[in-house]
Amino acid sequence: MSSEQAPSVIIKGLGSYAPDKVLTNDDLSQMVDTSDEWIRSRTGIRERHIAAEGQCTSDLAVEAGRRAIADAGLTAADIDLVIVATITPDMPFPSTSCLVQKKLGLRKVPAFDIEAACSGFLYALEVARNLVRGGGVRHALVIGAEKLSAITNWQDRTTCVLFGDGSGAVVLGRSDEPGVGILGSSLGADGTETDILYMPAGGSARPASAETVANKEHYLRMQGNQVFKIAVRAMEQSALGILAANGMTAADIDCVVPHQANTRIIEALSQRLDVSMDRFKMNLDRYGNTSAASIPLALDEAYREGRLHTGDNLLLVAFGAGLTWASTLIKWQR
Ligand code: ACO
Repeated sequence: MSSEQAPSVIIKGLGSYAPDKVLTNDDLSQMVDTSDEWIRSRTGIRERHIAAEGQCTSDLAVEAGRRAIADAGLTAADIDLVIVATITPDMPFPSTSCLVQKKLGLRKVPAFDIEAACSGFLYALEVARNLVRGGGVRHALVIGAEKLSAITNWQDRTTCVLFGDGSGAVVLGRSDEPGVGILGSSLGADGTETDILYMPAGGSARPASAETVANKEHYLRMQGNQVFKIAVRAMEQSALGILAANGMTAADIDCVVPHQANTRIIEALSQRLDVSMDRFKMNLDRYGNTSAASIPLALDEAYREGRLHTGDNLLLVAFGAGLTWASTLIKWQR
């Protein structure tokens, strides 16, 4: 995916949302054999948000989407496309995007989901960018939303301490100024590593049954240390790829917004790219890993903190189940 200069596609609005309920590490230590010290030192996470009873992924998506549309100074009637990136759709079908279209009162515009786990938002952003750039779509609403608490085994200490619920969204539109906004993306996947991070049942391979429920196969499973090693390498290669494609090096980057999975993964990436940690936007301590929601949530926070300035080079970089990875380079402009 090369970075063509014109027409530019920029982020016109941002929004994010996290449910009110906060689950701390101390709360978790009452549920499984763990401690605040273990979780903080191994992951960097202090607390995470958990959706309320009955609150589903589309509800989280709607909150972020509504905020992003308002932030762009637009209304629901202005949106020509909605894409939701999620691995926790409300149901296998219809898509969460169709439910969001209805709940937000959008017109009968195209709506579909993208499933690329933690890389899903960047995959969705690249698809939407090309549809906006092609001219058929004026404004695209791109949302990452997850209710990971619904697929978390709350008795498994090796996974339940890691994840949280939340959502983030952007509205994309065109700019007359060349060479600004999203400059390009580098997307990749390795389907030979599907078994280190997956949810065994609930699809056509193992439809839901009394047996799959009894075996706890409707919860995510992960070989954490395997994922860790591949994550660092894949994110580094992906980031270097998109920088090279745009004639840049890591020294040109003002702010990195990484997928918030584990502070140690991000610190290793910071060392490999030789970009200091103070240029990384971090909020993992307060949200945990929110998969497809993590980057738009962190991006929205960085924006509201005043960390993004016109002309800044921004690198978004993600890694997730599939395995998938993605990097997106942005010259910040609103
Ligand atoms: N509390 C206390 N002890 C624990 C906990 C816990 N919550 N979890 C595991 N342990 C124990 C293990 O049982 C093990 O004990 P043992 O040595 O007696 O066998 C010990 O701690 C070390 O376990 P490791 O798994 O080797 O710990 P590690 O340092 O690798 O940290 C972690 C585990 C945090 C999961 C790390 O590997 C990681 O972050 N991996 C990456 C996860 C990730 O990035 N996923 C991204 C994608 S998510 C998505 O796509 C949906």
